[in-house]
Amino acid sequence: MAALALPLGAGLSKPAHASNAQQAGASKVLVAYHTRTGHTRLIARQVSRALGADIFEIRTSDPYPEDYEEQVAVAQRQKEAGFEPLLAATVPDLVPYNTVFLGFPIWGMTAPAVIRSFLSKHDLSGKTLVPFITHGGYGLGDSLDVLAAHAPKARLISGFSKQCEQERQTLQDVTNWLGRVDLPG
Ligand SMILES: Cc1cc2nc3c(=O)[nH]c(=O)nc-3n(C[C@H](O)[C@H](O)[C@H](O)COP(=O)(O)O)c2cc1C
Repeated sequence: MAALALPLGAGLSKPAHASNAQQAGASKVLVAYHTRTGHTRLIARQVSRALGADIFEIRTSDPYPEDYEEQVAVAQRQKEAGFEPLLAATVPDLVPYNTVFLGFPIWGMTAPAVIRSFLSKHDLSGKTLVPFITHGGYGLGDSLDVLAAHAPKARLISGFSKQCEQERQTLQDVTNWLGRVDLPG
C-alpha cells in the first residue's frame, strides 16, 4: 500500500481497494495503528480494506530500538516517566473522520507511550473511538483506562483484542534450538 503524496500527511494512506473507498462527504473512518512486529498492522489493514477506511501508521520521530531487550527497557522507562515521545507525523485533518479505529500492542501491561502521544496530539472529541489491541497472552492491562483518560471526550466503544505471538517466546525458542544444533567442531 503506497503512501500517497500531499495533501495527505506522511503515513496516511487510502484503503487498499479503491472500490471500497469512502465517498466524499460521507461519514469517514480512519484506522490509526502502531506496530512493532506486524501483528497489529495485519488487523489494521483488514479493517481498512473491509470498511474502505483511510489508514495511518503511528510512529515515533526517533525510532524505537530494533533490539527486543532494548525496546522492553525503553517502553518501561517511558511508562514510568509518563513520557510522550514525539510523533514522526500527525494526521493533517481529523475533522472529516467520525470514527477512529485505534490499534496497538500491549507493552508492559498498558498502551505504548506513543499511543498516549497520538491521543494528546489529536482531538477525538465527539468521535467514536474503537480500539483493537494485540497482546502476548497477559490481556489488556490498563490500556482501556489510558484511552479513556487521554481521549475523555471521545465515545469509546467495545473493540477487538487478540492474543498474538510474543517476540520474547520466539527468541527463547530460537535460543533453545541453537543449544541443540550439532555444529561441526
Ligand atoms: C516492549 C514490549 C512489551 C510487551 N509487554 C507485553 C505485556 O505486558 N503483556 C502481553 O501480553 N504482551 C506483551 N508484549 C507482547 C506484544 O503485546 C504482542 O507480541 C503483540 O501482539 C505485538 O504486536 P505487534 O506485532 O503489532 O507489535 C510486549 C511486547 C513488547 C515488544
